Amino acid sequence: MKTPRGKIPPLSIIAIIFCMLSFMVLLYTERLSFLSSSSIFNLRSRDAGYKIPKTDIKRLVSKPIDYAADDRFEFDPQECNIVHGKWMYNTSIKPLYSDRTCPYLDRHVSCVKNGRNDSDYRHWQWQPDDCMLPRFNPKIALKKLQGKRVMFVGDSLQRGQWQSFICLVESIIPKRHKSMRRGRVHSVFRAKEYNATIEFYWAPFLIESNSDEHIIGDPKQRILRVDSIAKHAQHWEGVDILVFNTYIWWMSGLKIKSLWGSFANGEEGFEELDASVSYRIGLKTWANWVDSTIDPNTTRVFFTTMSPTHQRSEDWGNKDGIKCFNETKPIRNRWHWGSGSDKRIMNVVDSVVEKMKVPVTFINITQLSEYRIDAHTSIYTELQGELLTDEQKADPLHNADCIHWCLPGVPDTWNQILYAHL
Ligand SMILES: *[C@@H]1O[C@H](CO)[C@@H](O)[C@H](O)[C@H]1NC(C)=O
Ligand SMILES: *[C@@H]1O[C@H](CO)[C@@H](O)[C@H](O)[C@H]1NC(C)=O
Ligand SMILES: *[C@@H]1O[C@H](CO)[C@@H](O)[C@H](O)[C@H]1NC(C)=O
Ligand SMILES: *[C@@H]1O[C@H](CO)[C@@H](O)[C@H](O)[C@H]1NC(C)=O
Ligand SMILES: *[C@@H]1O[C@H](CO)[C@@H](O)[C@H](O)[C@H]1NC(C)=O
Ligand SMILES: *[C@@H]1O[C@H](CO)[C@@H](O)[C@H](O)[C@H]1NC(C)=O
Repeated sequence: MKTPRGKIPPLSIIAIIFCMLSFMVLLYTERLSFLSSSSIFNLRSRDAGYKIPKTDIKRLVSKPIDYAADDRFEFDPQECNIVHGKWMYNTSIKPLYSDRTCPYLDRHVSCVKNGRNDSDYRHWQWQPDDCMLPRFNPKIALKKLQGKRVMFVGDSLQRGQWQSFICLVESIIPKRHKSMRRGRVHSVFRAKEYNATIEFYWAPFLIESNSDEHIIGDPKQRILRVDSIAKHAQHWEGVDILVFNTYIWWMSGLKIKSLWGSFANGEEGFEELDASVSYRIGLKTWANWVDSTIDPNTTRVFFTTMSPTHQRSEDWGNKDGIKCFNETKPIRNRWHWGSGSDKRIMNVVDSVVEKMKVPVTFINITQLSEYRIDAHTSIYTELQGELLTDEQKADPLHNADCIHWCLPGVPDTWNQILYAHL
């Protein structure tokens, strides 16, 4: 879209306002997750020192993969384009867990616990056009992870994917054989019998910023060190399977305060760059780190593409709607693409990754998630660490979260794609 200099078209203003609103939601969410993580930490730390008897290990190691049940072999990632397809409603599809059975879910994504009582959104299955996406089999997934470290790195959406992955596998692990240690930045779920960990590392921009650990609410105060990544990346070394994302935090406004070089001028030496320009430099920094550090023979690298937001019901033709509030069905309109997914960013990701030496596998979730206006946490979530009150629920325009997803829900499908590639 071409715009004359100095003039901002009204649509952009609306977009900016929605971005700001999104950010308030995001901010609150981050804050409260830190609150809930400490309680999980206390609960789980007791069994941290448990050792598995030797015989158990033998039994497990010798257990063969049940190939009959492994329909991943029918899945050829070269042949199958999972991006194009449709959501199929099927009541015989039941999620592998619920927010009551899985103890590792943050309250802010536990929609059913938080009062959501329509259940249709849990019975949709992603059906690619030309192939079958294999069903997620927890046993096979854990076998694949045997002796390995998996780490999800990124923002709160990535944290959702991490929790989804844990919940998909954890039910088949006996209580004393698993543990969870939650930290502000780095959290580790351990499946002891499998000598495997499923970890999360908080780095919402991947690169460093002044708003990583202690989040700065006002996007204008945030300064990104677009060429610095070592502080975070040192914690990614030695991991076998890395799953990255970064998107929504770059969408806080049109310009981003960006620093690079020697910082001779201190924090004041920043330049204000267009979000997509800043994003490109930041992602290149990440790509350089991957290319110079990762041995592709031992480490797999995945990248989850942008998770769409659904802040504008006009995008899907619901003129009287309030964001994603009260939506109970996916969008049917094929190729639907809303204003919450920035095509420029997708192009940046594509062009940066294309030039990398180390192969990066995309978990391209954007199109399939675009259809799922029904699956966000909406009003069944928390605000500043507290469940929404009835009064707040009655004001979805200000309080509905149309960025994050209910669990179980759409991120389970993202992990189904990851699983198919393992
Ligand atoms: C619904 O899912 C079940 C179990 O996966 C499958 O057997 C059945 O064929 C599906 N029905 C339709 C209409 O796709
Ligand atoms: C679901 O909740 C809504 C309000 O949140 C209520 O009006 C409705 O009666 C509930 N439906 C069922 C089946 O419980
Ligand atoms: C467990 O996994 C780690 C890597 O995550 C490896 O270094 C270690 O040797 C493994 N231990 C056993 C007993 O397999
Ligand atoms: C990866 O393995 C191949 C063949 O096994 C070998 O030629 C190559 O040098 C290895 N790459 C690295 C970075 O170790
Ligand atoms: C939500 O949707 C239902 C049916 O689609 C409708 O009856 C109800 O009035 C809607 N609630 C609000 C607050 O818009
Ligand atoms: C993901 O899929 C979309 C189509 O929905 C495509 O336009 C985009 O280029 C893909 N992204 C990447 C990074 O491959």
